[in-house]
Amino acid sequence: MPKKDAEREQRVIAGDAMDGDVQADTSLRPRCLAEYINQEKVKENIAISIEAARGRGEPLDHVLLYGPPGLGKTTLAYIIAAEMQVSVRVTSGPAIERIGDLAAILTSLQPGDVLFIDEIHRLSRVVEEFLYPALEESAIDWVTGKGPGARSIRLAIKPFTLIGATTRYAMMSPPLRDRFGGVYRLDFHDAGALAQIIRRSAAILGVPVDDAGTRAIAERSRGTPRVANRLLRRVRDYAQVKADGAITEAVAAEALARLEIDAIGLDSVDYRVLRTIIEKFDGGPVGLETIAASISEDAETIMDVYEPYLLQLGFIQRTPRGRQATRGAYEHLGIEPRAGAASPQRPLFDA
Ligand SMILES: Nc1ncnc2c1ncn2[C@@H]1O[C@H](COP(=O)(O)OP(=O)(O)O)[C@@H](O)[C@H]1O
Ligand SMILES: [Mg+2]
Repeated sequence: MPKKDAEREQRVIAGDAMDGDVQADTSLRPRCLAEYINQEKVKENIAISIEAARGRGEPLDHVLLYGPPGLGKTTLAYIIAAEMQVSVRVTSGPAIERIGDLAAILTSLQPGDVLFIDEIHRLSRVVEEFLYPALEESAIDWVTGKGPGARSIRLAIKPFTLIGATTRYAMMSPPLRDRFGGVYRLDFHDAGALAQIIRRSAAILGVPVDDAGTRAIAERSRGTPRVANRLLRRVRDYAQVKADGAITEAVAAEALARLEIDAIGLDSVDYRVLRTIIEKFDGGPVGLETIAASISEDAETIMDVYEPYLLQLGFIQRTPRGRQATRGAYEHLGIEPRAGAASPQRPLFDA
């Protein structure tokens, strides 16, 4: 049976938000593009679009942000609104159940406002179609009455900017994707960028951390700012209780080993995924659903939280017939690679 949400939310390496993160996300969240670390290409393109839109006195084109959880999609949406000097309305795909919910939001927007829809791949088809004329023609088609007497009236709304965020680009319908003028994929950060994020957060939290301590946390953060901030908070607790409050390499390594996070950020679930592929299915290929079932995990969690990082490390490969363990996975687990194991891809961090 899949684990319950409450149980999986205790995992420190998950990129999605959990208890305690919401407040931290807010206090540690960069407020402007200049404070947003790394993702240089994305920032540059967004800065140009913002400057151009402001120069013309027009709303910014609709923006779609996609990538694994914890990489900075929500943060970037707020920053874009701040840089455009407009208000932001925040909602999510599952929160908009009926057309009426969306109509109420759309009609309340001021010219140029940002509407941020998180998990936009989860909008229902009906709601999605209702959104199309709003995006393209600043209008909504409102149906009054029922049956043969039903009439559709077109109402004008103020032009606005939609910012959509998703961890599942592939699940979005092509017509919805096509309506975004700017589509940006957020990438995992390298250890250097994570170190910058950790230093910034440590300064805000007022916790002393040296370079080696910063690096030790960065290397275990799975390329993900939210994980970096969360690990920093856990290490800070440990440093305060078990050391003199300062974070050194030894303190960080010790604290994170206690959380069962290995030197490159893998936890017990990652190990179970890899061992299942290697030991039960002879290295694969094996379907994701089968892997999930054999370790009693939810397939969605594996797909969103675990798989992206394992792919990034080059420990697994996606093939048309399922997931396959690479030579790199065998080596990390200390298992003799079998003859057919795929060659590892470029590692995320230089050794
Ligand atoms: N580029 C960045 N620079 C600094 N901090 C970042 C960056 N991206 C994300 N963060 C931090 O990571 C946390 C999670 O980011 P968030 O935008 O909520 O991720 P997502 O919406 O993609 O799940 C935020 O609190 C923020 O402090
Ligand atoms: Mg988010």
